[in-house]
Amino acid sequence: MIHESIVSCVGRTPLIALSRQFPPPGPAVAAKLEMLNPSGSMKDRSASHILDLGLRQGLITRNTHLLESTSGNFGIALAMVARVRDLSLTCVVDPGITPSNLRILRTLRANIETVTEPDECGSYLAARIERVRALAESIEESFWVNQYANELNWRAHDEGTGAEILAELDRPIDYLVAPVSTTGTILGVSRCLRRAFPALRVVAVDAIGSVIFGGSPGPRKIPGLGANRVPELLSPGEIDDVIWVSDREAAAGCRELAVSEGILAGGSSGAVVAAIGKLLPQLPSSAEILAILPDRGERYLDLVYDDEWCAALPHLLSNNASHGEAEPFGLFAESNDGEIFDDCRH
Ligand SMILES: Cc1ncc(COP(=O)(O)O)c(C=O)c1O
Repeated sequence: MIHESIVSCVGRTPLIALSRQFPPPGPAVAAKLEMLNPSGSMKDRSASHILDLGLRQGLITRNTHLLESTSGNFGIALAMVARVRDLSLTCVVDPGITPSNLRILRTLRANIETVTEPDECGSYLAARIERVRALAESIEESFWVNQYANELNWRAHDEGTGAEILAELDRPIDYLVAPVSTTGTILGVSRCLRRAFPALRVVAVDAIGSVIFGGSPGPRKIPGLGANRVPELLSPGEIDDVIWVSDREAAAGCRELAVSEGILAGGSSGAVVAAIGKLLPQLPSSAEILAILPDRGERYLDLVYDDEWCAALPHLLSNNASHGEAEPFGLFAESNDGEIFDDCRH
């Protein structure tokens, strides 16, 4: 089959057993390898869904100028689709953008607007949103994609990621474990899977320092994981448990996954691996777990796969006492950070 364009290659990602990382007799863990989407992440799904539906419905035309506050995978996915559909795109970024992401965005001909003024907490979020609003006012026929509030974000994962998982599974799953930022992925996939498996427990993996589930803001270094704002899409009642992971734990999870399974994955995938490691002792060996692994690891060679970068990370404990909610599995009473830090240093 010859595809119409790279956009029609989005999705149909494989589901694989992580039986080397999580061997029997413990619970079985299957992973949806979203990193195999063409621009490198699961964000291809929401970007192509939002833009293509917008084009079909006439909300977006060839004269539309797309705007988004993004310095990561979503910007890259939008830039890929915008090239193919011949649309202009401006990504509002901040100085925290990684050099490789900036180069990728520029290579794909996205316009870049960089904000430079952080707020008193050191976050550029307010400045980025303000710049998007200003651009929306000054550019004719602009369209703010707004992944944190756009309902098509989660729908892309309900109709895409979730539906594919259902079609591929030969048995029910008990736990969905997925990293969060906009929460579009976890909500879309869980809404789909819950229709088939009403007893499904949905476990969000968030970064320490993210405010999504009521935590206090703090420094976070893993791109794509966590958020400095509560996404409009968030529906807390649909998330059963939250596991907070430190940057160090996420980095160690990435390294373990590379060695055990030969999968070079991005930082949030490492966070998922670390979170499952915390979850497993609480579960019966008959439990079936489904994990979402969002992106590839090449863009993280200077981050989680770099010894010096890891060595400079603070030694945070995964103690969620400051995050308000009850400890879901009692997972945080004892941290296994020490072990993970050792891995990270090697
Ligand atoms: C690498 C990575 N992991 C996890 C997420 C979180 O996904 P969502 O925004 O759907 O919650 C993102 C979002 O950008 C991401 O880029």
